[in-house]
Amino acid sequence: MRALGGALPPFTAGAHIDVHLPTGLSRSYSLLNAPEERHRYVIGVAREPDSRGGSRYLHESVLPGERLVISAPRNLFALDEAAAHSVLIAGGIGVTPMLSMAKRLDRLGKSWQLHYCCRTRSMAAFLDDIAAHGDRVDLRVDDEHAGFLDIAALIRSTADAHFYCCGPKPMLAAFNSAVAATGLPPARAHVEYFQPVDDGPPPGGFLIELARSGRVLTVPPGKSILETVQAAGIAATSSCEAGICGECQVTVLGGTPDHRDLVLSDAERAANTAMMICCSGAKSEKLVLDL
Ligand code: FES
Repeated sequence: MRALGGALPPFTAGAHIDVHLPTGLSRSYSLLNAPEERHRYVIGVAREPDSRGGSRYLHESVLPGERLVISAPRNLFALDEAAAHSVLIAGGIGVTPMLSMAKRLDRLGKSWQLHYCCRTRSMAAFLDDIAAHGDRVDLRVDDEHAGFLDIAALIRSTADAHFYCCGPKPMLAAFNSAVAATGLPPARAHVEYFQPVDDGPPPGGFLIELARSGRVLTVPPGKSILETVQAAGIAATSSCEAGICGECQVTVLGGTPDHRDLVLSDAERAANTAMMICCSGAKSEKLVLDL
């Protein structure tokens, strides 16, 4: 994507953009090019068999040269550039943010290693780009390797490193288990989600008070706060509507949210001062929101 004159807004390794589709859907995609590039944003989109509509549309309906509305880059998966060593663990199309991180780490002259897991070589994305990094890359192809990557052993064998993981749900679950088992400090464990967790329907059945107008709305069971406020004609921004992009974050002025997103840290959840209204509910009878 090229700017119509002038440089594009800057981004940092691990950042994503939201792509707004003409269907009304909006989806987040990691930028995979080097952050120093200011003339383009590069994304990689895997065609998912169980697509919720985003990847299928981009593969089947978008034509070369067509213009799409996108957001400015945002980063929920930032690279700690001060780390002595960085370990990047990717599965499938989850390798995209790692490509930008690898370019940035190379530019900084930092030590890093990529463990890239995929089902078959033919299904691996950006294999030529990745292979160019030589022995910094541990390519793990399911039908060529016996056994899965032992993430806990990797953490135990790499002192003082920062670990980054992006991939399908089983890989992220394995990463989180390994982090817990090894006691890796949260500040050195970084996870990027690109699929929602299966957490059932939105947890409705409570009241929300909109502080700016004083209106009180009932969020019915099976409906999200986002759907409820939009149905009431109140503008609220959103993108993934699955708790993974952070676009719908709202300030909480009262009550206790039932956090179900994958954006907020444990400390941010405990503070209860912000919530994602596309997926989270309430533990109290009423929430007061800055809307
Ligand atoms: S819209 Fe993405 S987290 Fe709510």
